[in-house]
Amino acid sequence: MHDIKIFDTTLRDGEQSPGASMTLDEKVQIATILDEMKVDIIEAGFPIASDGDFESVSQIAHEVKDAVVCGLARAIPADIDRAAEAVRHAKRPRIHTFVSTSPLHLKYQMKKSEDEVIDIIEKTVGQARNLVDDVEWSGMDATRTPLEYLRRCVETAIRCGATTINLPDTVGYATPSEYRAMFEAMQDIAGAQDVIFSTHTHNDLGLAVANALAGVEGGARQIECTINGLGERAGNAALEEVVMALRTRADVLPYDTRVDATQIMRASKLVAVASGFSVQYNKAIVGKNAFAHESGIHQDGMLKHAETYEIMKPSDVGVNATSLVMGKHSGRHAFRQKLEELGFVLGDNALQDAFRRFKELADRKKHVYDEDIEALVEDQITEENEVARVMSLTVIAGTGGPQKAILVMDLGGRHVTEEATGSGPVDAVFNAVKKIMPHEARLSLYQVHAVTEGTDAQAEVSVRLQQGERIESGRGADVDTLVASAKAYVAAVNKLAARHRQHAQAVGAA
Ligand code: KIV
Ligand code: ZN
Repeated sequence: MHDIKIFDTTLRDGEQSPGASMTLDEKVQIATILDEMKVDIIEAGFPIASDGDFESVSQIAHEVKDAVVCGLARAIPADIDRAAEAVRHAKRPRIHTFVSTSPLHLKYQMKKSEDEVIDIIEKTVGQARNLVDDVEWSGMDATRTPLEYLRRCVETAIRCGATTINLPDTVGYATPSEYRAMFEAMQDIAGAQDVIFSTHTHNDLGLAVANALAGVEGGARQIECTINGLGERAGNAALEEVVMALRTRADVLPYDTRVDATQIMRASKLVAVASGFSVQYNKAIVGKNAFAHESGIHQDGMLKHAETYEIMKPSDVGVNATSLVMGKHSGRHAFRQKLEELGFVLGDNALQDAFRRFKELADRKKHVYDEDIEALVEDQITEENEVARVMSLTVIAGTGGPQKAILVMDLGGRHVTEEATGSGPVDAVFNAVKKIMPHEARLSLYQVHAVTEGTDAQAEVSVRLQQGERIESGRGADVDTLVASAKAYVAAVNKLAARHRQHAQAVGAA
């Protein structure tokens, strides 16, 4: 078995997805789970991008106990200094610096010659190596770079001190055999045996995971990936898919990672909540239906012998069978145990709050399932980070119209009530929020799904708001779809306001 290092870039490439931005607390929570699940390297962000990015990389560098913490930098001296400063307190710091290598990027984006780029690699990799011992160099758009020139770039980066060489399929263009051949073509470069080659694959053609595995067969020993496959455009190779493909098909892929796969579901759920990007039902490994067997033939086979239709056990990735949890008579102790089983460790105050919410839910809903508890706690975590919250909502709806919403919100301790009408109850609710929290953003997504079965199921609502270049998402859950909608909308407006404040502070400080 060969060891493969898992480099998680959920907090950098993942967060680059429009609308997937996360708060500092959410990023630290995600980094903590990644560390606990034994991911080797956590790319925590792009420190030069903003003060917020710098702050989160630096905070993660302080908190992470075991994994290497990495900061991204363009091949620009100021970027590299900033990345070094951000990862300074990490037990094991890494600087990841990249420059484009393909003719298209050189001609149209960088307006530099091949020799000029070689010069840049020499200077910037050398600079990074003077600041930390662990330097990763990436040739952006490597898969559309002629091999001879790519070899020159790689040879330069190795000679100047890079310890990891990453060859990204930046635009998701390569096929598995091409990607494998590219790594094979690098192996006889001077010093290649002393560095680790890395894959970084995008999913534009749905080939990200296949390409990552092919890269490994070609000699790569690090895979860059993200939880839930989050990332630019169609996303990156999904960590859960890469890890489970290697584990499940060890017979033909003699490679393994250190990752504790039983933490996968926990990480997936946290990333979905923090990013506001729900996981599609049929997503491999972490989708709601990934282990569901609907057809009679499949169910029959499963009952006789699970391996007939199941290549992995749900428990391998931390999926518990849906279970009826407790009713309104369940006690605090049983509730705490259930939370721990689901992967939530809450402090005393948060536990008390969650228990109160659980009791309220049990009063309103006949059966409370694991999924209900998860939605309830995720909702609570979202609200804890918010300055404005929904207190109560009354909606008058029906065929008569116009629909009317009366909303009471808590704005940092001050209660504000507003009424609004709209064409439909959701529109009325959003108009009421807008009166209390005025903003110019446009609603670009409104999505509802039921957490469990039944007409008394909790609704989980996702919204996405766009204001100029800025996109923010919010989620909310409640047995009342309109209350869930209000919570989701408020969560997104809160995020927009936080971004606005961050921006104003940065401008003020400049
Ligand atoms: O896709 C890409 O090329 C990247 C680099 C910054 C590594 O994300
Ligand atoms: Zn990328």
